[in-house]
Amino acid sequence: MHGDDIKILLVEDSASDADLLRESLQQASKARFEFVHVDHLNDAITRLRNQKFDVALADLSLPDSKGADTYRRLRAAAPHLPIVVLTGNDDENLGVEAVRETVQDYLVKGHADGRQIVRSIRYAIERKQTEEALRAAREELELRVRWRTADLHKANKLLRAEMAKREKLQAQLLSTTEREQKRIGEDLHDGLCQLLTGARFHNAMLGQQLRTTQPDCARETDAIETLLKDAVENARDLSYGLNPLAPDARGLMTALQQLADRMQTANGPRCTCNIPQPVGISDHAVASQLYRIAQEAVQNALKHAGAKKITIELKRRNGGVTLSVADDGVGMKRTGARPRGMGLSNMSRRARLIGGTLEIKNADGGGIAVTCRLPVAEK
Ligand SMILES: Nc1ncnc2c1ncn2[C@@H]1O[C@H](COP(=O)(O)OP(=O)(O)OP(=O)(O)O)[C@@H](O)[C@H]1O
Ligand SMILES: [Mg+2]
Repeated sequence: MHGDDIKILLVEDSASDADLLRESLQQASKARFEFVHVDHLNDAITRLRNQKFDVALADLSLPDSKGADTYRRLRAAAPHLPIVVLTGNDDENLGVEAVRETVQDYLVKGHADGRQIVRSIRYAIERKQTEEALRAAREELELRVRWRTADLHKANKLLRAEMAKREKLQAQLLSTTEREQKRIGEDLHDGLCQLLTGARFHNAMLGQQLRTTQPDCARETDAIETLLKDAVENARDLSYGLNPLAPDARGLMTALQQLADRMQTANGPRCTCNIPQPVGISDHAVASQLYRIAQEAVQNALKHAGAKKITIELKRRNGGVTLSVADDGVGMKRTGARPRGMGLSNMSRRARLIGGTLEIKNADGGGIAVTCRLPVAEK
């Protein structure tokens, strides 16, 4: 369309109707209408392939096409062209249907004067332009959404990879720390404790010698003995805390029992360890992680639960091993705030590190039950 020039493809098999339409248009408007007139749909389609038009006016009853088929084929041939269909008096409904489906307007032949036809043509052109602009905007939006989604997927993937890397590093840190603690514990036990024991022996000998000749100095050796004894016990406790498990398969059972015993105080909660059948775990790394899980769960029960009873349980179940620590305290409070401690996440990490799962849930009778399940137990 150049200025007021409108190029029309007129598809009409009645020559007189075509002439009438042409005349009424020229009379009704100052615009210059350029017509290409064809009387078969196939001719119209051929023209559309080779020429550009501003609008098509199409009779629906043609020698080679009738009714809805006409406007559908026309639309398929020119998806972006404004179309106004011309219907007879008795098939106005078809015009309404055509507008609902795809064309921009319809005119009932013989009922519209030149001005109405011009208005309809202009309206069809504008409507199609708006539709096209809307379609372009929608496509652009869809494209952006697709890009954005792709970006998000990419970012998500990177984030997951980063999280997996961190998870792996944290797991490595846990097992390295565990090994290092074990080594320091052993060094304390086999090095410092032995040295202190040696010093006690020499001090005792010296005390014996001095007792008859210099009883005052002998009393000093008694004081030294008391200090050395405390030092040995302290070092042993430290060594035990760093390396609580004996290296044999029964180490975990003994350590869990000792953990429960140590928690037993006059005013504190009653802490028991229940191991109905022996559970031997010869992989020291696995046993250590299970022990640390139990230790953290017991510490949490003491610190946060206000429990009267804490029960540690180690069982064989469904071919695997289940370790649980349950208390009868206040249960987990749902504050919505992100927990600041490390204990719960470390327990989960330790469980995953040894191929197990960790479940923390409020127990039926109040309190918390922490359960670590290992799928395959050793023989
Ligand atoms: N047995 C429990 N009973 C009630 N609340 C608990 C229990 N265990 C954990 N919680 C709640 O979960 C929170 C997180 O526990 P977590 O062990 O991760 O951290 P923490 O014990 O506060 O600190 P950390 O373990 O790092 O010393 C606790 O602050 C507490 O509110
Ligand atoms: Mg904790």
